[in-house]
Amino acid sequence: MQDAPPLLEVRDLTVRFGDVVAADGVSMEVHAGETLAVVGESGSGKSVTAMSVLGLIPEPPGETTSGEIWWRGGADGDAIDLLAQPEKRMRRVRGAQIAMIFQEPMTSLNPVYTIGDQITEAVLLHRDVSPGEAEGVARDALQAVGVADPAARLHEYPHQASGGMRQRYMIAMALACRPRLLLADEPTTALDVTIQAQILGLLRTLQAERGMAVMLITHDLGVVAENADRVVVMQGGRVLEVAGVDELFADPRHPYTRGLLAAMPRLGHTPERLPTVPAGAALDRREGACLQEVEAGHFVRS
Ligand SMILES: Nc1ncnc2c1ncn2[C@@H]1O[C@H](COP(=O)(O)OP(=O)(O)OP(=O)(O)O)[C@@H](O)[C@H]1O
Ligand SMILES: [Mg+2]
Repeated sequence: MQDAPPLLEVRDLTVRFGDVVAADGVSMEVHAGETLAVVGESGSGKSVTAMSVLGLIPEPPGETTSGEIWWRGGADGDAIDLLAQPEKRMRRVRGAQIAMIFQEPMTSLNPVYTIGDQITEAVLLHRDVSPGEAEGVARDALQAVGVADPAARLHEYPHQASGGMRQRYMIAMALACRPRLLLADEPTTALDVTIQAQILGLLRTLQAERGMAVMLITHDLGVVAENADRVVVMQGGRVLEVAGVDELFADPRHPYTRGLLAAMPRLGHTPERLPTVPAGAALDRREGACLQEVEAGHFVRS
């Protein structure tokens, strides 16, 4: 049981892109120090939810039509609604208090600057250190994510690095500012299984050391089983089910979740994407009733 109020609380978030309702009344909570996995097929609204937290929805074409996102990770611990903050205030939250690892590694790495410049710039922006100290922080951050010879790597450009190394650079950059919450959007999707396991292990270690919370967006239920404390299942912009990870695997309640688990491949044979389970098909004629149950929160267990 969690006594303290959640670190992050997304309430009734609705984001539209024209006719597409990308997030449709999404609510979820992340508690300090926990890993919340967000799973669901492509287009279910996972990235849109995370981008909303950081105020990164492009408007237009996007439009946030309802919701509040309460954040309690500031220095004073007061709750602020991130959706209501001016851009100037968001710039102090972004990177410093809440960092994000993006689905596409190259989105957050600038090709024309060295890795060292990019990490030190972020550190100088968000932490009260001198330029000399910032370089030390950058070196330590690379070391922390398992990069050998970090001093030399500081001078490398993103295109000189392998996919796995770029992913580490992104994580180093995200972690260098010691955020309270890390939004990790498919942080290891592009990597082979061994490096994937290494990086997730590393995230777990850093998380335990720092008490950082992680929102882990993934399509990989094996990754969920190994890394998450709680799980949010999304489809079509809606949260269908929320449960503790053991509970979810032992006793999935929403028929869509059951479909996902039934389609879960054997260990070591993870598909690129979760299979699409038509909400109705797995569910028979109770689909309509099911939606009402979702709305009534019957599948939310924690
Ligand atoms: N910039 C955008 N312009 C138009 N539509 C968008 C934009 N971003 C997201 N959408 C739409 O919003 C819906 C939710 O997208 P989102 O990226 O959140 O899905 P996702 O769950 O992260 O999927 P994936 O697993 O493929 O990353 C999709 O229908 C998507 O096409
Ligand atoms: Mg996505």
